Amino acid sequence: MTGKLITIEGTEGAGKSTNLKVIEDTLREANIEFITTREPGGTLLAENIRKLLLEKGSEIIHEKTEVLLMFASRMQHLSQLIEPALNRNIWVVCDRFTDASFAYQGYGRGLDLSIISSLKDIVHPQITPDLTIVLDVPVKIAMDRVRKRGKLDRFEQENLNFFNKIRNGYKEIVKNNRDRCIPIDASKSMKVVEKAIRGSVMEFIKKHN
Ligand code: TMP
Repeated sequence: MTGKLITIEGTEGAGKSTNLKVIEDTLREANIEFITTREPGGTLLAENIRKLLLEKGSEIIHEKTEVLLMFASRMQHLSQLIEPALNRNIWVVCDRFTDASFAYQGYGRGLDLSIISSLKDIVHPQITPDLTIVLDVPVKIAMDRVRKRGKLDRFEQENLNFFNKIRNGYKEIVKNNRDRCIPIDASKSMKVVEKAIRGSVMEFIKKHN
């Protein structure tokens, strides 16, 4: 018996942080032991890589450098935190995972999707999220929310066109992974969104616990 990997995805400003709490509350109420983590990041080294990726410095980061850093962080995260937890039957809730590499570096930056598939095969040939909540919100609304939060990171400084490509990328990902992806219309009221997420997680728990 191994733990389950639940991921949450979406463009910035889609409400990941708030809705991550809904997933956590639902697991807690079902008495499931779990940890929460994020990507890029999750270990000391991976968090350092995150800083490099999110800081807007003077040097332009090549898109292949970007994807390699994402997967370097992911390898470390998997080996140090995610896999040991799953092997001990502890569930893992992860704020973004490899779907984000397909959405951002693939659909967003325009890197060939086969590059990302190859890296995925190297870094985690066996592991796929068991459940992925994909929050969808019109980019204009999402970016207005992000700008209100204050200082923008390297990704958040990108233009609407970039985020529209990512939004469409996530739609493709959902279409191609219906078995594990649950799309959520995050432009609805918080109450409605929370109910939908809670319901999906509860149904998943019933099936797998
Ligand atoms: P977040 O914590 O706000 O989600 O920030 C992480 C940023 O990193 C976000 O802009 C998405 C981006 N990202 C990628 O581009 N590729 C990836 O594989 C991951 C995990 C995140």
